[in-house]
Amino acid sequence: MAERVYIFDTTLRDGEQVPGCQLNTDEKVIIAKALETLGVDVIEAGFPISSPGDFKSVVEISKAVSNPVITALSRAVEKDIDRAAEALQYAKRGRIHTGIGTSDQHIFTKLRSDRDKVLERAVAAVKYAKKYVEDVEFYAEDAGRTDNEYLARVLEAVVKAGATVLNIPDTTGFCLPEEYGRKIKYLKDNVKDIDKAIISTHCHNDLGLAVANSIAAVQNGARQIECTINGIGERAGNTSLEEVVMIMVKHPSIGVETKINTRQLYPTSQLVSKMMNMPIQPNKAVVGKNAFAHSSGIHQDGVIKNRENYEIIDPHEVGVDKSSIILTARSGRAALHYNLKNLGVDLNKEELDEAYERFLEMADDIKVIRDEDLKRLVDQLPFKSA
Ligand code: KIV
Ligand code: ZN
Repeated sequence: MAERVYIFDTTLRDGEQVPGCQLNTDEKVIIAKALETLGVDVIEAGFPISSPGDFKSVVEISKAVSNPVITALSRAVEKDIDRAAEALQYAKRGRIHTGIGTSDQHIFTKLRSDRDKVLERAVAAVKYAKKYVEDVEFYAEDAGRTDNEYLARVLEAVVKAGATVLNIPDTTGFCLPEEYGRKIKYLKDNVKDIDKAIISTHCHNDLGLAVANSIAAVQNGARQIECTINGIGERAGNTSLEEVVMIMVKHPSIGVETKINTRQLYPTSQLVSKMMNMPIQPNKAVVGKNAFAHSSGIHQDGVIKNRENYEIIDPHEVGVDKSSIILTARSGRAALHYNLKNLGVDLNKEELDEAYERFLEMADDIKVIRDEDLKRLVDQLPFKSA
């Protein structure tokens, strides 16, 4: 039987850190409700110590949303944890997400500390958060570049202190999938009592590997994926929720499942893009404008004969109405005939030949032929006016 993977959505925290994407509390509540409808397991609602606005958003999301666990971020600092706990007071199920940098890079040049002191701070933060909530997630920031043996020591200590979820972020998007997968396996094999906690992935996309790394982690035992709608987030972004979910749907051999209602993927993606004023690249997997659009003659002919010749996802499965055949000068007669039929125009072979010649002239001229252009083209055909 497929094992459950939890989807932890951080659109409203890591995603909202994108310059120009900031939202007010009402907007965040609208997105949080959409995430609940989508079926995410955890919503990271904000970083309450960072501003009064973020604090208020965590409070209001906690009141507005019932099913997902609500998480608030903090550093391994008591006043951050106090503020996170206060913001979560109305959450039906609240989780404090606390942590500290564990790579030598972070320990020496950011925290200006040493490995032993960082380990102590990690344990102290988890113990302190446990005074407020049962569910405490620990993040080892920059785990991707952290020495595995030291990382295992830190994680063992925080599990002993009561951490329920262990987040292993590839904060800088540095790891290769195989390397990140091996790291997860090393931790599973070397951290005493790791089975008492859920292993979580949090991958950034600096080398375009966030999704691949998250899947490699799941294949090696991670059971929570931290991700965002449309893959938004710091710098090059985070793991894209819609992509990881559809990979797990399309590859049952991975042996895992989520509770995501995939038909909500496209509507949620559109909502987030509009509210955050962040356009989606047309070739974006799963939710991009061109994800189900076919434009070359060979592909169009194949799709018209059988959609599965060129589509591995049924558009309805992700909430997209239908695939589209985009008419350009690269399109063939089959595509023209198909789109004309959809407009209620059925031409015989000679008529289609004539229409196709005119179509190519028009396409060279205006590039993409839309329905209005097609209607105009048909009206101007000689046999139409005869
Ligand atoms: O990228 C990261 O390491 C983070 C942590 C705060 C979880 O966003
Ligand atoms: Zn992050």
